[in-house]
Amino acid sequence: MNERFDPAHALRGELRPPADKSISHRAALLGAMASEPVRIEGYLHAADTTSTLEAVRALGALVEVHGEEVVVRGTGLREAREPDGPIDVGNAGTLLRLLPGWLASQEGRSFTLDGDESIRRRPVDRIAEPLRQMGAEIEAREGRFAPLRVSGARLRAISYELPVASAQVKSCVLLAGLTADGATTVGEPERSRDHTERMLLRAGVQVQRNGRHVTVVNADELLIDRIRVPGDPSSAAFMIAAGVLVPRSRLLLRDVGVNWTRTGFLRIVRRMRGIVLGDLEQESPELVEDEPVSDLDVAHGALEGTVVEPVEVPGAIDELPLVGLLGCFAEGETVVRGARELRVKESDRIAGVVDGLRGLGAEIEATDDGFVVRGTGGLRGGRLDARGDHRLAMMGAVAGLASREGVEVVGMEAAAVSYPGFADDLRSVIA
Ligand code: S3P
Repeated sequence: MNERFDPAHALRGELRPPADKSISHRAALLGAMASEPVRIEGYLHAADTTSTLEAVRALGALVEVHGEEVVVRGTGLREAREPDGPIDVGNAGTLLRLLPGWLASQEGRSFTLDGDESIRRRPVDRIAEPLRQMGAEIEAREGRFAPLRVSGARLRAISYELPVASAQVKSCVLLAGLTADGATTVGEPERSRDHTERMLLRAGVQVQRNGRHVTVVNADELLIDRIRVPGDPSSAAFMIAAGVLVPRSRLLLRDVGVNWTRTGFLRIVRRMRGIVLGDLEQESPELVEDEPVSDLDVAHGALEGTVVEPVEVPGAIDELPLVGLLGCFAEGETVVRGARELRVKESDRIAGVVDGLRGLGAEIEATDDGFVVRGTGGLRGGRLDARGDHRLAMMGAVAGLASREGVEVVGMEAAAVSYPGFADDLRSVIA
């Protein structure tokens, strides 16, 4: 579906971004692993997180949906049912990488995970390697792609250093660690989002952070009865970019998650001199249970170019396309480095951002691990192919509102995996 986004005069009003996708996936999975019912308030109803509800149903959990509230009655940590056929993860990379962590410990049972065409291009060797070290048997197509077959076993606790910062791989190993024979430690080169650690802590599990390392001790059961899902900062980021870029704009975004491991984009925008006010969580060495929220007040303003360094990449990974877009409007050069991971997202996002924005008139070059944009004060507009990638589709829509001639987004329906009402929400604040 092609959709046109014309230049906007101003954006004004209030929005509540949809519920956090990462936290919704984790809430449904932990719900399925718990023995008592878990009430999830504000679950995200979007394609990716619906795949997770279907997956846990296939594994024997009972799922009741009452509007935005979802109640999951799980099977307990060690009692996932072997489904009749493959588990369909759809387009959801987080489900594909996290779920095997639980399934790996289901002794004597096997599970096959498969998904759409894009998911079949995304590497799973990164989870297969640690899970094999723990004792599970994992088979993948060509050794690294879905379909993925997980044969559960009695797991050994391990210490594992992640080759790249990835919250998905870290979470997979931590979930497997819940049933391993001791304490499992994961080290990450840079800090990635810590929603799994916070939720496990709330569920009574012994989880400890020590710098770049997290250790989880095995547990008999998860003790959690209620999870509240905040607004998704990655979805809010598109509204923030729109508010910063469209002249005369002022937007109030309600109830946005501001866990410091997710607010890298906000810090980058502020460094570019964009106006985003809010009560962001401070970085802390301590692990806490809560997922803090804040309202964010966004206003249009002139931007300056910036350099995003590798250490900042995990905290802004899904928002880096927007840094490219902001860079087109900023004074000077904007550079993103150390973000090779963008090449294995729902699409090759380095290629998608560079080709997409260049097609709209941007001066942007791809590098091996990022891109360099020279700001020209604006964007002409034109056509942008979303390449089946929700974040590219939404970036194209925002670009349209801020451009001189408007943008036609090819494949706008991709937005539905994380933000089904995106185009309507964006239009609702056009003044
Ligand atoms: C996610 C982690 C990130 C992110 C993805 C969601 C998660 O992926 O890009 O959208 O929920 O853990 P990686 O772990 O591959 O960096």
